[in-house]
Amino acid sequence: MTPHINAQTGDFAETVLMPGDPLRAKYIAETYLENVREVTNVRNVLGFTGEYKGKPVSVMAHGMGMPSISIYAHELINYYGVKKIIRIGSCGAVDEELKLRDLIVATGASTSSSMIRDRFAGYDYAAAPDFGLLRTCADTADKLGLSPRFGNILSGDLFYGSNPALLPAMQKMNVMAVEMEAAALFAIAAEFRVKALCVLTVSDHLITAEETSSEERQTSFNQMMELALETAYA
Ligand code: HPA
Repeated sequence: MTPHINAQTGDFAETVLMPGDPLRAKYIAETYLENVREVTNVRNVLGFTGEYKGKPVSVMAHGMGMPSISIYAHELINYYGVKKIIRIGSCGAVDEELKLRDLIVATGASTSSSMIRDRFAGYDYAAAPDFGLLRTCADTADKLGLSPRFGNILSGDLFYGSNPALLPAMQKMNVMAVEMEAAALFAIAAEFRVKALCVLTVSDHLITAEETSSEERQTSFNQMMELALETAYA
């Protein structure tokens, strides 16, 4: 047990899918996994372990923001032997060509946070997913007939009230969407030599102001989940 996870040693599979929302973790476990059991529920941040096509896999929520995902990823990697973490989440689109529900795979995560600099002696670390996982994800998308956009995203600390200069800067530097966790996940995975990936669907558009409902966010991102699960076990 750790301060934030009340599972026993061996309760987690080596691969963990991580959505932000505990109820989405439950939905994924119930919808996609077999022989599922709940393995942790501290603060209602639910985690489950089951099987996908006969292979063990876990799903656990990471909460919102980089401090939250940092705590759970750190404990999963260092106390439960987790080797592969795939974040599955939502993001706000900045690129005008993106539409609601489009799939995105992060090839890098810029950040407006100081968290990654804290890990990197004050310098700007290039937070990136594992290359092997990324390549597998691209191949898997082809096999599934999916066409995600691959590119740079931004992990921000502020959902409300971020610096107005950030949006034009993102557009200028071809950073296509904003979310709140990937950069921290990539940095932790690099530090502890495990693999991380981040697959997203567009839930709202920062330029056109369109948005999806929370019910859609919980249940309708099946393509993203299939891409993540098939990538994990390709
Ligand atoms: N900003 C930050 N994180 C998000 C957003 C957003 O607009 N949409 C979904 N996650």
